[in-house]
Amino acid sequence: MILVAGATGNVGGELVRALAAAGEPVRALTRGQAPQAPRTSQVSASAFSARGTFPPRVETVTGDLNDPDSMRDALTGATGMFLLSGYQNMPGTLAQANRAGVRHIVLLSGSSAGSGDMSNAISRYMIESETAVRESGLAWTILRPFGFMSNALQWVPQLRGGDVVRAPWATVRVAVIDPYDIAAVAALALTSGGHEDQCYTLSGPEPMLPGERVRVLGEVLGRDLRFEGQPDDEARAEMSKAMPARYVEAFFSFYGDGTLDESRALPTVRDVTGRPPRTFRRWAREHAGAFR
Ligand SMILES: NC(=O)c1ccc[n+]([C@@H]2O[C@H](COP(=O)([O-])OP(=O)(O)OC[C@H]3O[C@@H](n4cnc5c(N)ncnc54)[C@H](OP(=O)(O)O)[C@@H]3O)[C@@H](O)[C@H]2O)c1
Repeated sequence: MILVAGATGNVGGELVRALAAAGEPVRALTRGQAPQAPRTSQVSASAFSARGTFPPRVETVTGDLNDPDSMRDALTGATGMFLLSGYQNMPGTLAQANRAGVRHIVLLSGSSAGSGDMSNAISRYMIESETAVRESGLAWTILRPFGFMSNALQWVPQLRGGDVVRAPWATVRVAVIDPYDIAAVAALALTSGGHEDQCYTLSGPEPMLPGERVRVLGEVLGRDLRFEGQPDDEARAEMSKAMPARYVEAFFSFYGDGTLDESRALPTVRDVTGRPPRTFRRWAREHAGAFR
């Protein structure tokens, strides 16, 4: 039995579907309610998730990653777990998993963890989560994806109001990755041997500017969309409404100061899965309904 945290989110949702399609017993963790309160020690760059219903035969369980005791029932009988980064008392949750008989953890981290920069609040929570997993005594696989294609869902409100997308860091290319591909790597790590104690940095197939993503999205939606670079002060003010200041600063350090380079397409998805990562055009087609 594989327990999937973040099962209502972009990556976890894809992972639940992938495992169920492969006939693996899978258990989807939710907090039993729609997400409302911001997480205390973790930030999600995606304000919207590709939510859907779970396939038949998927068990749903409740638990809160910030509260290891609440995870006991969810973990009982699980042998593998997909875990998100940045929650309180990660060592406590991992000890709970160990006691329950879990043997393998796949952790969703991020590429910035590779910097080792503890002064950046996002890198820091990822590094701390990776350390907890490495020290848990369980077999582990760490996934360090680049920026997600699904971050484009943040544009949904703007696109409901018109054809212009305003977004920051207009000149920063990112080889964005489809959460489907992150989940595909996670599924293989959890169900086949040879991925223990591996750390995979994962990218999509090509570096893209935000304006290029908007153009492709417009072509897929049949709309004449226009991209406008957002001035830093406007972006800072907008982001500050959605997340604590330390995370706003972390993103500006990554993409404003250029401390994070996610501009190169990497071979990892192909190496692990045997096929190339999906394109942004494919992602946009699969998720066009969310923009209509
Ligand atoms: N977006 C990016 O570009 C990017 C890049 C690299 C790494 N990452 C990492 O990926 C993570 C986001 O992944 P995602 O996009 O798949 O997620 P998401 O769509 O933002 O959804 C968040 C998920 O986390 C669950 N969750 C939130 N708080 C929880 C708690 N206290 N206990 C248990 N579950 C909780 C939510 O479940 P409920 O149904 O209970 O709300 C939901 O399923 C980020 O937070 C970041 O760490 C993101």
